[in-house]
Amino acid sequence: MSEKPMLLVAAAALIDADGRVLICQRPEGKQLAGLWEFPGGKVEAGETPEACLIRELDEELGITVAQACLAPFVFASHGYEGFHLLMPLYLCRRWEGQVTAKEHKALAWVKPSRLGDYPMPPADAPLVAWLRDLV
Ligand code: CDP
Repeated sequence: MSEKPMLLVAAAALIDADGRVLICQRPEGKQLAGLWEFPGGKVEAGETPEACLIRELDEELGITVAQACLAPFVFASHGYEGFHLLMPLYLCRRWEGQVTAKEHKALAWVKPSRLGDYPMPPADAPLVAWLRDLV
């Protein structure tokens, strides 16, 4: 049994009207800088994963998402050096506001068939196969 702490991060695949998925490039100075991730963040004490995502999508992208527009899809699980990450991925096709990079280096809307062209954190990369099957 691993002694590593468990970290719960909620993430979202925003899907636009053309079936493209949003990925976000992690900024310089952070762990995994330059890699393309699904937006989201740590679930805080007393918070549900959905409430966490609503908060994080506002902070990171400046958009408003209704809880009813977050559909649980798959879980990612990866053992990083200092912690084990458990990360539910939600699908989201509706939001309000303009998607803006408030905390990321860059944003990209990518067809699921091309997601493999973007280097991703090891927790995110296996999710691409599920998204390819979906769209
Ligand atoms: O991004 P930051 O490191 O500030 O914190 P976070 O968004 O709360 O995520 C915590 C950790 O989870 C990150 O440092 C990554 O190691 C991992 N993570 C990931 O692998 N994939 C994501 N889509 C989001 C986070």
